[in-house]
Amino acid sequence: MSKPTEKEQKWKTPQDSAVITYVWAMPEHANPSLFQPDTLGNVNGGFILNLIDNVAGMTAARHVQGRVVTASIDQVSFHEPIKVGELIILKASVNRVFRTSLEVGVRVEAENVYTGNVRHAVSSYLTFVALDEHGKPTPIKQQLKPVTEAEKRRFEDAAKRRASRLALREQLKKEEV
Ligand SMILES: CC(C)(COP(=O)(O)OP(=O)(O)OC[C@H]1O[C@@H](n2cnc3c(N)ncnc32)[C@H](O)[C@@H]1OP(=O)(O)O)[C@@H](O)C(=O)NCCC(=O)NCCS
Repeated sequence: MSKPTEKEQKWKTPQDSAVITYVWAMPEHANPSLFQPDTLGNVNGGFILNLIDNVAGMTAARHVQGRVVTASIDQVSFHEPIKVGELIILKASVNRVFRTSLEVGVRVEAENVYTGNVRHAVSSYLTFVALDEHGKPTPIKQQLKPVTEAEKRRFEDAAKRRASRLALREQLKKEEV
């Protein structure tokens, strides 16, 4: 599995593969609330995770222009509950490309369409791996060129998240011995 040559290397910006999806939060998306009536009308977290994985997968596939698989959902922070009746807005973009893997960040917002109020509800980071025709990890040819200040910050943060994930894995491996 060789590194792409300079000639094969292509550059894309995060905007080139970014995806925005809108989903209306419906009653069937709510948490069961028999024992927790205070959560009545809150959207189920697992449903939101499913939306996040889908929108992030679309983004990763658009960047790679090929087959990708979710390797891990590295982080999910539920900042605020989303209510049935709100519009769920999912904004996904590639934060950084590594060798065969890339990180996608997803920001989930909840909009009250009557008032126009938009709240930041969830943040998530996922790692996808590009696969070849045999289903094996393959180097990603399309490198990422962050343009805006926010994209440059996400690019730097993605490297830190990966480094800390790998460091933890090493540490746990050592402790197993
Ligand atoms: C993800 C997968 C392809 C990795 O395969 P692998 O043989 O472990 O691959 P490698 O060890 O060669 O690593 C390949 C890349 O994946 C990354 N990776 C592997 N496991 C990872 C994990 N748990 N979290 C994040 N990244 C991971 C590696 O860091 C590496 O990235 P890099 O090339 O950019 O440095 C493989 O584990 C797989 O197919 N998993 C199932 C995926 C799936 O079915 N997802 C759907 C969800 S149900």
